[in-house]
Amino acid sequence: MRPADPEGTAEIGYVFAPDVAGRGYATEACRPLLALAFEELGVHRVMGRLDARNGASARVLERLGMRLEAHFVEDDWFKGEWTSTLVYAMLDREWRAGRPSLDSPTSR
Ligand SMILES: CC(C)(COP(=O)(O)OP(=O)(O)OC[C@H]1O[C@@H](n2cnc3c(N)ncnc32)[C@H](O)[C@@H]1OP(=O)(O)O)[C@@H](O)C(=O)NCCC(=O)NCCS
Repeated sequence: MRPADPEGTAEIGYVFAPDVAGRGYATEACRPLLALAFEELGVHRVMGRLDARNGASARVLERLGMRLEAHFVEDDWFKGEWTSTLVYAMLDREWRAGRPSLDSPTSR
């Protein structure tokens, strides 16, 4: 987790060894990080961004209750091709409510 910027947004990210994938460890590990951000550090918003093709990562953020906020189309040149980016986020009040409280215009 990167520290909150002056506007109060922190970014969450993760990389797990392939041999421990598919057991729920990533989701389990991220929950206390969100708790740390919102309950200890006073962060206003936590966001996560990922390659739009990374379904496993998107499912982690969705299981955490984060909202899909944006789908940037071919916004990044990566490894010799244009790739698209998804941005998920959660606000402090959504964390406190225990569920997303805002409708996402791009929710799937
Ligand atoms: C992104 C990444 C962390 C996701 O890992 P993951 O193993 O799919 O995520 P989790 O550890 O939360 O595991 C959840 C999966 O385990 C399954 N699972 C199996 N047993 C489980 C259990 N006992 N409890 C919870 N989930 C379980 C879930 O059904 C879920 O599968 P699904 O997503 O196909 O529905 C991993 O793919 C990774 O490290 N990738 C490379 C780096 C990367 O892409 N990072 C993100 C960059 S944005």
